[in-house]
Amino acid sequence: MEVIYQTALLKSRIGALRNSGRTIGFVPTMGALHEGHLSLVRFCRQQNDITVVSIFVNPNQFNDKTDLERYPRMPDKDLALLRSTGYDLVFMPGDKEVYPEPDTRVFDFGGLDRIMEGKHRPGHFNGVAQVVTRLFELVKPHKAYFGLKDFQQLAILRKVTSDLNFPVEIVSCPIVRECDGLAMSSRNMLLSQEERKRALALSQSLFQAKAMKVRHTPDEVKDFVTGRIQSSPGVDLEYFEIIDGLTLLPVSTWDDRHDVIGCIAARVGKVRLIDNINFSS
Ligand code: PAF
Repeated sequence: MEVIYQTALLKSRIGALRNSGRTIGFVPTMGALHEGHLSLVRFCRQQNDITVVSIFVNPNQFNDKTDLERYPRMPDKDLALLRSTGYDLVFMPGDKEVYPEPDTRVFDFGGLDRIMEGKHRPGHFNGVAQVVTRLFELVKPHKAYFGLKDFQQLAILRKVTSDLNFPVEIVSCPIVRECDGLAMSSRNMLLSQEERKRALALSQSLFQAKAMKVRHTPDEVKDFVTGRIQSSPGVDLEYFEIIDGLTLLPVSTWDDRHDVIGCIAARVGKVRLIDNINFSS
């Protein structure tokens, strides 16, 4: 197990590993690790010879400066958690190692970024694509692991890697939830005790929405979730959309050709949370 801070050293380690014919799995993270991240690391370890984890809070994907400043950072705890889970390399670069020059690339996501996160966080996905493609160039993984909680991010990264012909398989892993249903997120640790209780409105309304599917149309389910969140004290709904899992376009019937997903984003106090549920599984 080795922790690497510099790009040059990472490149030389990766070169040697690839020359020795070993498969490389990669888990990119922004740190403040929780069980959701560790589940990605475990999938990665099962499916690859070498597991590389990156910890880098990417400034380019924060459209809100305060959000970037408040984002939790706890490198020592992260490394201890990774040591107990197992890994081969951890890459913990500073900003200049990832972006020696400002990254001015502008990506075309073919409209996948027009709704939900893309609409509410302008520039967010462009920043995600900048960092992930940069990290892919450095780590040269055979497989890369992402959580389904960031459903739109996954769809966008699949498009980017396919458009750019990156020889990497994008592997999606299930959402990991707390015992009471709250989707695990690094941002949960910013919630007060009261907000933590209020945040349950998100997962609970998604579970109720799924149960309503048999008797109600997507529009009716959307109205229900919207009303429920709007009447939850201390929870400000940003959006709830019921979408086709491939095109990310809103659906009007359940019998879509692809999985139908319900995606929600809301602010609980100052903390912005997202969650989703698959209506088709
Ligand atoms: O999902 C995340 O934590 C981030 O968006 C990622 C993929 C690590 C890029 O910074």
